[in-house]
Amino acid sequence: MGVRIVGTGSFIPEKVLTNFDLQNMVDTSDEWIRVRTGIVERHIAPPEMSSGDMAICAARRALEMAGLQGSDISAVIVATTTPDYTFPNTASLVQNGIGAENAFGFDLSAACSGMIYSLELAYSLLLQKKYRYILLCGAEKLSAITNWSDRNTCVLFGDGAGALILGRCDDDGSGQLASDLHINGSYEDILKLPAGGSRNPATHETVDGKLHTIHMQGKETFKLAVNAMAGACKAVLAAAGVDVSELKLVIPHQANKRIIEAVANRIDVREDQLFINVDKYGNTSAASVSICLDEAFRSGRVQRGDMVLLVAFGAGLTWGAQLIRV
Ligand code: UT7
Repeated sequence: MGVRIVGTGSFIPEKVLTNFDLQNMVDTSDEWIRVRTGIVERHIAPPEMSSGDMAICAARRALEMAGLQGSDISAVIVATTTPDYTFPNTASLVQNGIGAENAFGFDLSAACSGMIYSLELAYSLLLQKKYRYILLCGAEKLSAITNWSDRNTCVLFGDGAGALILGRCDDDGSGQLASDLHINGSYEDILKLPAGGSRNPATHETVDGKLHTIHMQGKETFKLAVNAMAGACKAVLAAAGVDVSELKLVIPHQANKRIIEAVANRIDVREDQLFINVDKYGNTSAASVSICLDEAFRSGRVQRGDMVLLVAFGAGLTWGAQLIRV
């Protein structure tokens, strides 16, 4: 028995914010952003649209591809750093939005590594045979927690959602070949949203101090991301006895093209094996890996039976890799 990705979907809001638009908002330039990050534009959700709304749209597309109904789904897991509310969880909103009347569900908080962590759960839950189909969503409205006057961060992020449906299948060869997951809280301060939780509840001061927005030490995060992601990739390849040349595709979390290329260099990935769309969407945190997988499936860059390496790094720190046969 194996586990297979039976459907994928994504949703990208219509409104485009280009580097040129950002030139009019902060002291930056299209050239700086392109050269330092590879980002050309990102999409921004309208005020009335939440992460949950985007997840529902992505999930509906994944259901359609899989030929399933909401009622076929056994579990809904939503990876997000921008949930609609502190509670109820975003998974319950998605459950209701797609009519997943037979599901349980929860949100998973692991920042940009959310989809890599969610896949670990989905593969192991499905092998228990108790559940038939599991819906994983990665959804972010990062524009809602961006400090639009901080040029160090506001050029980096975008909104969007991706969805994957995994289900059991007869083919033993499909599924998770290896995984390598980590968490390390000693770097808590290099990437965080300081206020709004129980540590620093919302006050006039936290709002005035812009403490409800992303704070990041970019250079430090960059270095840690490259080392951690390259290490996780090497670990899964070694564990599965797979050579990197055998991979159809490597899908890294899309934070910065220079990070992606540095990781690719360290593990000797060919250019044609590397999936990059950070130019179009910026960093969509927990959504990025599932948006990439959806684009890869729909464009034919990945087909059933292919080996794919997924890798991500984010706040926490959290990081990890999944080597899967789709
Ligand atoms: O999702 C996972 C977590 N996130 C990441 O993985 C992101 C990791 N970090 C990065 O991608 C990069 O560190 C950044 C893109 C954030 C920054 O690139 P960098 O090459 O590390 O630049 P830097 O922070 O060292 O800044 C270089 C210069 C500074 O000026 P000085 O001090 O040299 O005069 C910055 O003030 O660039 C300046 N700068 C900018 N200039 C124009 C910073 N942001 C901008 C900007 N436009 N938007």
